[in-house]
Amino acid sequence: MEELLRISELKLNFNTEEGLVEALDGVNLSIKKGFFNGLIGETGCGKSITGLSILKLLDNNAIIEKGEILYNNKNLLGFSEKRMQKEIRGNEIAMIFQDAGSSLNPVFTVQKQLEEAVKMYRKASKKEYREIVIEELKKVSLPDVESLLKKYPHQLSGGMKQRVMIAMMLACKPALLIADEPTTALDVSVQAQFIQVLKNLKERFNMTFLYITHDLAVVNEICDFVSVMYAGRIVEDVSVRELFKNPLHPYTIKLVNSVLTAETRIEDLEEIPGSVPRLINPPKGCRFHPRCDEAMEICQEKIPELIEVNNNHFVACHNRLRGDDFGQ
Ligand SMILES: Nc1ncnc2c1ncn2[C@@H]1O[C@H](COP(=O)(O)OP(=O)(O)OP(=O)(O)O)[C@@H](O)[C@H]1O
Ligand code: SF4
Ligand SMILES: [Mg+2]
Repeated sequence: MEELLRISELKLNFNTEEGLVEALDGVNLSIKKGFFNGLIGETGCGKSITGLSILKLLDNNAIIEKGEILYNNKNLLGFSEKRMQKEIRGNEIAMIFQDAGSSLNPVFTVQKQLEEAVKMYRKASKKEYREIVIEELKKVSLPDVESLLKKYPHQLSGGMKQRVMIAMMLACKPALLIADEPTTALDVSVQAQFIQVLKNLKERFNMTFLYITHDLAVVNEICDFVSVMYAGRIVEDVSVRELFKNPLHPYTIKLVNSVLTAETRIEDLEEIPGSVPRLINPPKGCRFHPRCDEAMEICQEKIPELIEVNNNHFVACHNRLRGDDFGQ
């Protein structure tokens, strides 16, 4: 399987008045070309920061301590701001931000915003720009495109804004689209339509997605592969099918057990006790140890590495590396 992007050992802190926030602690992530790659975890675990790191769109107080982000064998972390803007953002890698509505400029019409996006990578006449924009809006199944062009963001529903954002991203024809919680602002029926739009895009344009969410049901619905994140680290990396069949990390097992599926009875649901630790002075060793039923002494001291324990199934847990319990 071809890898489009790889994050290796990414360590990123934020300098704050309260202290150092150790947001990403050696993140390893592989994005497979032509697939939906999911990134799941509880709130505050570092999902958005991981996506923003790829595009180098981090806040000024971010410090990258170490790591690599390899894209086409080039380390993006070594790219200047100018080079990121010219060669990567938009035309190679684009992102739908967590709060898509606020990413649209309220003072410009839909037409103007999309034309500006297209101008970033294509030279064309005024008439041609308009045609390209209409074509992009049709691709995301937006109705009545002609009248939509004249509208301002506040005149659109949440679902429409989301689609305009996607049309903007598509206008840039990125090889990789990072979608950060793209469905949270949408109601359930619009969510289903939206997911269908993304699936169609992947089929038609062979695009690659990094799909960020806190919702395992959404991962099940759309993703091919998934990385499970906990408190700034990837703890499990596996195909979605295998994740539900044979979750191995104690955190993932609880996560999977907490999802209500058609086959799950309410009494089978498991609550995950405790909450995600603060990332200022996080727990030493395995960051999950204060919440883990299987924690051993070593877990409080040594960070478990992400290791392939089964074919293409990676887990970061001391208790799995010993090979005595593979959760089967
Ligand atoms: N500029 C910043 N300064 C300090 N801490 C920050 C900054 N930006 C993010 N963080 C912290 O980094 C951690 C990871 O944040 P991130 O936004 O990536 O979480 P997330 O997994 O996307 O959560 P959510 O599901 O709520 O969107 C959080 O603890 C957050 O408070
Ligand atoms: S390393 Fe230890 S604390 Fe962490 S998940 Fe595994 S058993 Fe639990
Ligand atoms: Mg987020």
